[in-house]
Amino acid sequence: MSATEAADRASGGVTLELLRTKHAQGKPIVMVTAYDYAAAQLADAAEVDLVLVGDTAAETVLGYDSTAQVSLDEMLALTAAVRRGLHTPLLIGDLPFGTYESSNEQAVLTAQRFVKQAGADVIKLERAGTSASRAAAIVQAGIPVMGHLGVTPQTEVTLGGRRAQGRTADGARRLLDDAFALQSAGCFAIVLEAVPARVASLITARLEIPTIGIGAGAGTSGQVLVWHDLLGLYEWRPRFARAFVELRPTIIDALTRYAADVRSRSFPDQEHCYAIDETELERFRACLDSDG
Ligand code: KIV
Repeated sequence: MSATEAADRASGGVTLELLRTKHAQGKPIVMVTAYDYAAAQLADAAEVDLVLVGDTAAETVLGYDSTAQVSLDEMLALTAAVRRGLHTPLLIGDLPFGTYESSNEQAVLTAQRFVKQAGADVIKLERAGTSASRAAAIVQAGIPVMGHLGVTPQTEVTLGGRRAQGRTADGARRLLDDAFALQSAGCFAIVLEAVPARVASLITARLEIPTIGIGAGAGTSGQVLVWHDLLGLYEWRPRFARAFVELRPTIIDALTRYAADVRSRSFPDQEHCYAIDETELERFRACLDSDG
């Protein structure tokens, strides 16, 4: 981390200006998802640049079958929890399916709720097309927007499943045109999800704004991973995700030892109990005796 970046972080956190500088200097931008207060504190301590309270919360935290099922109220509650634990990285609220597609007015109102109610710094939405005009309206309302292209899970049925996008020349061309549309709409960055690495690199090279890749190779301007994938919390993860630690077996082991210690009465021990003064205990006993 450069002295300037350290100073920027110390003086109130990551800004869009700092991201632009990093991008201009070719320094990778680090983004991670988080969904609660504890995770926010950990991401903050790790000095990541961006934290996204992604609608992947639907699947990773809430147990729904798809991201399309999570409600606005659920997303606002999770984003607010992350806000309370996050100080330095920029906080991204993720507009859930069905809360921004109908009109620019609906999109602006939803984005404003993320800022006012949940404390998001910026928001993210999926796809181009009508979403580019929603993005422009939100930017004009004063809220910075991150785009999201490639696999867009909210509309995965239309895409024919969560299959890599841009694997044909025509598909790659469409992705580039969509990226240009989001850039023209004023987006400050674009997530590229599940796109061939070489296509993502070519798109990135033609844009003025940074791309944040997930399953899009090393040639994007930054990377994002989903919390549960990065920490190895589930048995399954997408093939593009790397677990930097396998916490699932570690946690199961801890829970199993806890259960065994409770069952054998070796927990809690002296160290984890409150004491009472002998005299007070005697008085309590006397009181019990007088009760008969
Ligand atoms: O919702 C999410 O977590 C996302 C990331 C995968 C970028 O959109």
